[in-house]
Amino acid sequence: MLDLKDIIAKAISKVININEKELEDFIEIPKDTTMGDYAFPCFRLAKELRKAPPAIANDIKENLEIDDKYINKVEIVGGYLNFFVNNSILVEEVLKEFENKNENYGASNIGEGKNIVIEYSSPNIAKPFHIGHLRSTVIGGALYKIYKFLGYNTIGINHLGDYGTQFGKIIEGYKRWGEEYKVEENPIDELTKIYVRINKLCEEDEEILNICRDNFKKLEDGDEYCTNIWQKFRTLSLKEFQRIYNMLNIEFDYWNGEAFYSDKMTEVVQKLEKTGKLIESEGAKIIDLQAQNMSPCIVQKTNGSTTYATRDLAAILYRARTYDFDKDIYVVAYEQNLHFKQVFEVAKLLGIDEKYINGLEHVPFGMVRLKEGKMSTREGTLIKLEDLLNEAITRALKVIEEKNPDLEEKEEVAKKVGIGAVIFNDLANSRIKDEIFDWDTMLNFQGETGPYIQYIYVRTKSVIEKAGYVPEFKDVDITKLEDNQSVETIKTIYNFENILKQVTEKNEPSILSRYLIELSQKFSSFYTANKIITEEKDLQDARLYITYAVGTILKTGAELLGIQMPNRM
Ligand code: ARG
Repeated sequence: MLDLKDIIAKAISKVININEKELEDFIEIPKDTTMGDYAFPCFRLAKELRKAPPAIANDIKENLEIDDKYINKVEIVGGYLNFFVNNSILVEEVLKEFENKNENYGASNIGEGKNIVIEYSSPNIAKPFHIGHLRSTVIGGALYKIYKFLGYNTIGINHLGDYGTQFGKIIEGYKRWGEEYKVEENPIDELTKIYVRINKLCEEDEEILNICRDNFKKLEDGDEYCTNIWQKFRTLSLKEFQRIYNMLNIEFDYWNGEAFYSDKMTEVVQKLEKTGKLIESEGAKIIDLQAQNMSPCIVQKTNGSTTYATRDLAAILYRARTYDFDKDIYVVAYEQNLHFKQVFEVAKLLGIDEKYINGLEHVPFGMVRLKEGKMSTREGTLIKLEDLLNEAITRALKVIEEKNPDLEEKEEVAKKVGIGAVIFNDLANSRIKDEIFDWDTMLNFQGETGPYIQYIYVRTKSVIEKAGYVPEFKDVDITKLEDNQSVETIKTIYNFENILKQVTEKNEPSILSRYLIELSQKFSSFYTANKIITEEKDLQDARLYITYAVGTILKTGAELLGIQMPNRM
């Protein structure tokens, strides 16, 4: 579609002889629309050109040759060059593009031929799926869908925590007291109880801890008894997790967790041995990372069993070979920053192509805090995700019952609204910030929330329903869309494709969340200022077409975040 930034950058590039791609990154979109649609700050060039920014702006303006079909005014304000877009061309181009692509509006093929591994969710077997895992699931799930929409070949992986000493412990606990617990009925809760109990015993008795460690070693070596129990826990846990993924509309291509790499670890250790950098330390094998200012990476424990880090190294090797990835993205809490720094550093010793090392990227996110205080495992205030999602649905239902008691299929709508609210809340701010979890804020239909976007979407639907038809683009008279609110709404529609690109450049789905709020607000102003259903057919067609486009894009955008749209609410 029409690329205005590119047109501006090309024109400036001809005057000042700087690469247009570089210039494109300089170009800003002013918050204040009286300052134009695009602004080019000349400050960054002052040093290089040895001139004051306003003088540079002046020079550029004088020599600029830009197609006035698209840009009809260029102004200098301070050290800025401000560009004003020819609105009628823009309106036409945007609506034409929308007509062509409809619910695929915003999609592109910029990712063609690129392989993106995205690892997300990755909960631990036999442990509750808690609200902390929600963030990885929701952020990763959104990135997965957005990359795909932009044409990337995406590979979504759930790197389950299904291996490690804790399984040695659970096996031991189950062996001792399995019959006392109703593991089949309520697997994760009961296994957690067993885990807590055996952990306590381990703390008191070193001997038992060693037995547990040995159990894990046995598991790694393929012992039948240990393997069978482990397999059973895994299957039961996955069944519970799947219920949550269904509620959140989350899918994975592979469920290769840590255990998947159990037969791929020897190769890692051998490769590291060969570099001469794998050293013995108190019986364990480590890579020293002092030069990088980090604690050492433990590759093999004293009893020969492997570690969390080794399994990640094996995964890198496997993914490089299997998926030939351009990027391998890890959506994991920032608490694991050090872990990934260590692993990525040691990965350089695996002898794989540099391309793969450069493609490794940890995408961290902040913690979740309850408005009332923090959540903690030990004090037992840990909130289980499934309970939380059900609570969201119940609360949404209550709001709907108050606002619209006669609504049909209330339960279905409450599901979409409640879960949509939780997802949106999770994606509303930049991911590295801690998330505040507050029911009233996130379920507010008028706030910057998921329900607000759904509410605006439903409004577009009901306007169209009232009119009884969706106009065709060929019947839209562009000159009917010259008012401020129409133009503003269409300009926002224009930005959608670019917004999605930005999401992938920064791995930041909140850019899309903010955008959907902005589009909703713009539409709301448009709707307040303009009567859509009117006597004048031409006017109605034009306004109805915008309404239809906004509704479609809100739905596309929300679904990319994992949020479902109700038809009524
Ligand atoms: N299972 C881990 C946890 O819950 C997260 C796994 C992260 N991914 C990885 N490749 N290490 O903390």
